[in-house]
Order: sequence, then C-alpha cells, then structure tokens
Amino acid sequence: MNADVFTLFPQWFEWFRGQRHVENAIALGHEVEAVDFREFTPLKWGQVDDTPFGGGAGMVLRVDVMEAALRARYDVDPVELRSERRVIALTPAGRLLDDALASELAAEPALTLLCGRYEGFDERILEHFVSDEVSIGRYVLAGGELAAMVVLDTVLRKLPGVLGDDLSAVEESFSEALEGAPEYPHYTRPAEYRGWRVPEVLLSGHHAEISSWRRARSRERGGGPGGASGGSLPS
Ligand code: ADE
Repeated sequence: MNADVFTLFPQWFEWFRGQRHVENAIALGHEVEAVDFREFTPLKWGQVDDTPFGGGAGMVLRVDVMEAALRARYDVDPVELRSERRVIALTPAGRLLDDALASELAAEPALTLLCGRYEGFDERILEHFVSDEVSIGRYVLAGGELAAMVVLDTVLRKLPGVLGDDLSAVEESFSEALEGAPEYPHYTRPAEYRGWRVPEVLLSGHHAEISSWRRARSRERGGGPGGASGGSLPS
C-alpha cells in the first residue's frame, strides 16, 4: 500500500512512522509518507487558508492550495485523482470509521489522506477532489492528523505480515470472524491471582471447547449499539 498524508504538521508522522507495526509495514514495502502541503502553496508567505465568505469564526483551507499540492504530488488534475486512488478527507461529520471500513481501506493499493485544520476544508475540496470523508467519532479535533493516524493504524495492522501473528487481526473485536461482536476475554499467567481463577476450559487444552467457549463469550458481549456491551467495551 502507498499511503500519503497531506498535513501542515508532517513532523507528527515521524513519531507514527517509528511505531513497531508501522515500521513493520514499511519494512514489508508499504509506504507511509507525510506531505507538507504548505510547501506547495502558490500564495505568498506560505498561506494555506483564508477567512470564510459570509463571515464567521476561524479559517478555511483553500481549494487552490490543495489543488497545487495534489498536482505537485501526483502530476494529475485532482478531479481525476479520486478515480485512481481513494482520496479521504478527515472530517468530524464523515463516515464513521469501523472495522468494516478499515478492512475496505486495507484492500486498497493507495490512499491519500487530507488533514484539515482550523474550521476545515473549503467545500469545493470535498466536492471535487475527495472520494470519501471519514470521521473517527462525533467530536471535533483540532485537526485531522490524529484521525489520520487512527485510520492508518487500524488499516496497516490488517496488512499481511504487519502484526507478528496475522491471526490477531482476524479474530478480534468487531471482525467478520466474530460476526461483528466484541472479542472474547483473554487471560494469562498466573492461573490464579487473589483467588480469581482463569476459566478452567482455557487450561484444558481442548481446542474445540476453547473455541466454542470464546464464541459464546464474544456473543454474550454483543455487537454494536444494541449489544450487551453497548458497543463500548475495549477489545
Ligand atoms: N477532524 C476534526 N475532528 C475530526 C474527527 N472527529 N474525525 C475525523 N477528522 C476530524
């Protein structure tokens, strides 16, 4: 996969690229690059945003600046770009990121992620250059960078070989393998701690029984907003 993140804060992604699973992905030949779109602005003084027409608070990212950056990177009219690769704007009101969307994106050969700042994007960027708007939750971040990292984190860990054990990304919370339900509980040594025993079945060595116990616990926890957990349990 080739993933480009357009951002005004490329240095944030130096940390991200140094995380073990991201390093693994890069070592396997995947690319994760941060593009500083301020470098490509045709405006003076590195300007990338402007005041909103009609008035109001905040600044809006300019469509001409985004076009210049996308053209410089891909040498194609950005209106055409979205038929070549997914061009995703991170916005609070976009499609909510979930496991299904992460799997969908992990199957793409190339992704472009656009990080907004300030009041967000000039609407013409979203209308004409972008294929998807993605949100990581119904709250407003100061910018799209953390959201882009969340998207990339969940996408990269699905690529074969990126996690030490590929199966850990198959049978996990909200996956198809668990029919969208949260993952079953995990235990490790010690088998007993302060009188709290690990369920006997997990110590039994009976793989079929362990597997059916796990499916049952996962189903009990329920999936989605209607599930027993309200969808809010950590994995
Ligand atoms: N940009 C600002 N807030 C965001 C959110 N919740 N999700 C994605 N991008 C954002």
